[in-house]
Parts: sequence; C-alpha cells; structure tokens
Amino acid sequence: MSAPRVSAKRLAEALGQLPPTTEQAAVIEAPPGPMLVVAGAGAGKTETMAARVVWLVANGLVEPEQVLGLTFTRKAAQQLTARIRARLAKLAGSALLRDLDPSGGLRARILGSEPEVSTYHAYAGRLLTEHGLLLPIEPSATLLSETELWQVAHRVVSSWDGELDTDRNPTSVTEAVLALSGQLAEHLVEPDLLRDAHLELEQLVHT
Ligand SMILES: Nc1ncnc2c1ncn2[C@@H]1O[C@H](COP(=O)(O)OP(=O)(O)OP(=O)(O)O)[C@@H](O)[C@H]1O
Ligand SMILES: [Mg+2]
Repeated sequence: MSAPRVSAKRLAEALGQLPPTTEQAAVIEAPPGPMLVVAGAGAGKTETMAARVVWLVANGLVEPEQVLGLTFTRKAAQQLTARIRARLAKLAGSALLRDLDPSGGLRARILGSEPEVSTYHAYAGRLLTEHGLLLPIEPSATLLSETELWQVAHRVVSSWDGELDTDRNPTSVTEAVLALSGQLAEHLVEPDLLRDAHLELEQLVHT
C-alpha cells in the first residue's frame, strides 16, 4: 500500500466539490480499519462516505471493485451509488489524476470497474443465492421481497380468528405486524421475550 498523496480537501477542490468540514476530512482520511461514525440526519454522512471511497481510490489504497457500501434503504443506496459514480467519473477525467497516475493505469481501472453499493437486504439475498449451498440451504430458497412479506403478513392478519381488541382495519394491523416483526428481527428478540418484557417494569412500579 502506498502512502496517501492527496488530502480530502485538495481532492474536493480538484473535483469541484465543496470542501469537507474538519470532521468530514478526518473520516475521509482515516487510516484503514474498523471505524464507527455517528452523525445525525442530514449531517453529511452520504457525502462523507462517497468522498471516502474516492479518496481511497485516488490514493491507490483500494481498487474501486474492492469497495462494498451497504445501506438500509434503497433510496440511500441510490444516493450513495450516484455520488460515488459521479465523483469517480470526475476523478477519471481530472488533471489531478493525470499527475497522480501518469501511466493511466488507475484511470483505466476506475473506468473499468465499480464499487458495489446495495441495501443489506439485497446484498444478503445475493449472498444466499450465490453461496447458500455452503450453509447449506436450498439453492432455490429466496428472500421474500417486501411485497411478498406484506402478502404473508396480510394473510396472517386476515385469517386471524383469535381475539383482537382494535378499531384498526386489516391493512393498518398488517403494517403494525410488519413493523413489529422488523424490530424483533433487528434486535434478535423472540416474540415470547417481548411478551414478558413489561413484567420487570411492572414489578418495579408496584414495589
Ligand atoms: N462539507 C459540506 N459542505 C457543504 N455542503 C455539504 C457538505 N457536506 C454535505 N453537504 C450537503 O449537505 C446535505 C446533506 O448531506 P448528505 O446527504 O450527505 O447528508 P446525510 O447525513 O447523508 O443525510 P440523510 O440523513 O438524509 O441521509 C447535502 O445537500 C450535501 O450536499
Ligand atoms: Mg444519507
């Protein structure tokens, strides 16, 4: 690995981007290795991630196709893809890259390969399809799409014959079921555990 040669600030200038803040620059130029960045909504996270990728590529620290970007929502994946793509294209045509890479080898690699950016869900689906046999799971197994998931949940709600004390309609109950099941899965919590979760608090209140 060669030592970094271009700063985040100079790279932004060369690509016609607004300069990163000091905090953003620290993230963009961080040494390789695990790192957690916590930032609020609209704080410039996507911008920083895109700049990080381009900085790593411009400095020859990673090849574009070695980058994997994962997001929760498809919208975020699209935004990240678009920003990385636009910046890498600008980098490929920039005078800065001609200085950094007189042979043109890096330029050719930037134009010839792309980082992979997708949602966790889509990426996991692809991993299952490609490598599921190693687990092993049936090669024909697929992840439910959001629509299919909704249909399954709606079937459960519509055919529920137990007591349900609510004024909400089946569509709205289905949405609630999906939200709850999503939260349970994300926190690795089984329904029974959730069912009893209030007991401890209740005991505390009563004592
Ligand atoms: N250093 C900067 N200078 C000027 N504008 C910036 C800078 N960093 C980010 N922005 C702008 O701030 C806005 C929000 O940035 P960005 O989309 O990266 O934030 P985010 O944290 O990913 O937001 P969200 O929470 O919506 O995903 C964008 O319009 C972006 O161009
Ligand atoms: Mg974002």
